[in-house]
Amino acid sequence: MSMAKLLLNDKEYEFPLITGSEGEVAIDISKLRAQTGAITYDPGYGNTGACLSDITFIDGEQGILRYRGYPIEQLAEKSSFVEVCYLLIYGQLPTAQELKDFEHKITYHTLLHEDMKKFFEGYPRTAHPMAIMSAMAISLSAYYPDLTDPEMIDLNIIRLLAKFKTIAAFAYKKSVGQPYIYPRNDLSYTEDMLHMMFAVPTEPYQLSPVITRALDMLLILHADHEQNCSTSTVRMVGSSQANLFASIGAGVSALWGPLHGGANQEVIQMLEMIHKDGGDYQKYMTLAKDKNSSFRLMGFGHRVYKNFDPRATILKKATDAVLNELGVSDPLLDIAKNLEEIALRDSYFVDRKLYPNVDFYSGIIYRALGIPTEMFTVMFALGRLPGWIAQWKEMTNDSATRINRPRQIYTGSVARDYTAVNTR
Ligand code: CMC
Repeated sequence: MSMAKLLLNDKEYEFPLITGSEGEVAIDISKLRAQTGAITYDPGYGNTGACLSDITFIDGEQGILRYRGYPIEQLAEKSSFVEVCYLLIYGQLPTAQELKDFEHKITYHTLLHEDMKKFFEGYPRTAHPMAIMSAMAISLSAYYPDLTDPEMIDLNIIRLLAKFKTIAAFAYKKSVGQPYIYPRNDLSYTEDMLHMMFAVPTEPYQLSPVITRALDMLLILHADHEQNCSTSTVRMVGSSQANLFASIGAGVSALWGPLHGGANQEVIQMLEMIHKDGGDYQKYMTLAKDKNSSFRLMGFGHRVYKNFDPRATILKKATDAVLNELGVSDPLLDIAKNLEEIALRDSYFVDRKLYPNVDFYSGIIYRALGIPTEMFTVMFALGRLPGWIAQWKEMTNDSATRINRPRQIYTGSVARDYTAVNTR
């Protein structure tokens, strides 16, 4: 067996290597502390493999993303979001009958318990929909018991997939002060999402195949991304044997941050700001490079992709196509393209390998589809849900799973004696 050797204080230790199915080499340090007394220091976990996983493969240098072995380009072009959900959660593509059954199940579990509507009423209209999403995901555990039987876990997975979009649509309706629109069983998953968001009791929503397909593709592109911040959160929370709904609610909270899923909202706000400021993108490029400024070019850079983000490549093409088909002209698209063009030639971005990520163009498509800015991260969450579920399921079924509990290197005060303050 190949080994890695560590020389520590003149003593040599050996650690086994693990090689992934795509050739990635890892040093198994699970016995490091027991054998040497030392731990590793890896802030942000950029060099830490926290699990073995069969779900998603990314090669950040080559710009490769595959779900269960299938290239993202093929899935985005030819598959549907529901089929991708099945693929991620159950490990293989469904047969025609399996897909039909799965679609039927997630169609017939979309209703929320009527009592849950009262929760929505309690929020102020200005509540960010991600706050509602996170709280509602966890609240599902109050209605559907935490069952350990695999069949019942599967039922809760179906419930979550089905109800999450109803929650998302209700959160939107709350923000615009309109009555909630109930799901329709004759519509596809994505059509139903659009119907619940945009229909009003006095008028049905006119479904457009261009919009439905574009949204379905966006959901596919977001469906999984291996051990990112929100997915690791789901695994972290789930490792304590917290139930599925609680683990996913925590994942939603992690996704909300502007460095993660919240970046899509930030990108549009940044582009709007540049537009209002007369479109002077050069000024913002300079600001993004200025180390005395906290301004970052949102939608640029990625922890893993160091050449290009294949999702951004697909989205850039799709943005032009969708806007053309819908007859929408958006000045923000020109600003985005100009920023990208300059960045690709600028040594600051080139040297640091900063390229557009999935969030750079997704917001422009969402805008064209009529989805409001505050709902962008909710759309990301909707797309990422099957990935979180697949990762949670894999983690709970893995006999190697232990409660996640990193260590630290303590840098505070050494022991000192307590002295009471004199209060007289
Ligand atoms: N604009 C300007 N400078 C940047 C940017 C940016 N968007 N991103 C990274 N840098 C610089 C950073 O200042 C640092 O420079 P230096 O080496 O001189 O200190 C260097 O590039 C490395 O950055 P980092 O923050 O150490 O990289 P990271 O791997 O920890 O962070 C990131 C990755 C995505 C958080 C970061 O690139 C970023 O903040 N991007 C903007 C937010 C964004 O678009 N997030 C969405 C990520 S994709 C969707 C998802 O999966 O969530």
